[in-house]
Amino acid sequence: MKPLSAVVIRRLETAARKAAKASYSPYSRFPVGAAILTDSGKVFTGCNVENASYGLCNCAERTAIFTAAAAGERGLRAVVVYTPTKTTTAPCGACRQVINEFGPDAIVISICDGKERTEQSLSALLPDAFGPKNLGR
Ligand code: THU
Repeated sequence: MKPLSAVVIRRLETAARKAAKASYSPYSRFPVGAAILTDSGKVFTGCNVENASYGLCNCAERTAIFTAAAAGERGLRAVVVYTPTKTTTAPCGACRQVINEFGPDAIVISICDGKERTEQSLSALLPDAFGPKNLGR
C-alpha cells in the first residue's frame, strides 16, 4: 500500500480539528474530532456524541466510521483523532475493534494542541485482533 502523502495527512488533520467543534460532550467536557480516509480516497468526519444515559456515549472515531459505512464505504486507510489537549489521545478499545473491522492495516494518527503527535498502526494498537477472518469472512 502506497504511503499517504503529506497533503492528504494535512487534509485529514484539518478535518479532525474542525470536526471536534461539533462535539456534543456536556458531561465529560472532553471534545474529540476524528477524520478517516477510505480506500476510495474519501474523507469522513465525526465527533463524540454523549447522552444523559452515559453508557450511550459514542466516540468521534465510531461516528466517523459508521458515517462512512452508511455511505457504502468499507476499506479504511487512516484514522486521525484530535483532542484539544496538551497530549495526544489514542482510540479507546471499542473504537480499535471497530477500526479493525474495516481497516486492519490502517494507520492511526493522534494530534492535539501540544507538540505531541503519535502515529501507529492499528495492528500495534490491537494485536492479535478478533475480526472478520475469525468468522471466515
Ligand atoms: N472519546 C472519543 O470520542 N474518542 C476517544 O478516542 C476517547 C474518548 C470520547 C468519549 C466521551 O464522549 C469522551 O471522549 C470522554 O470519554
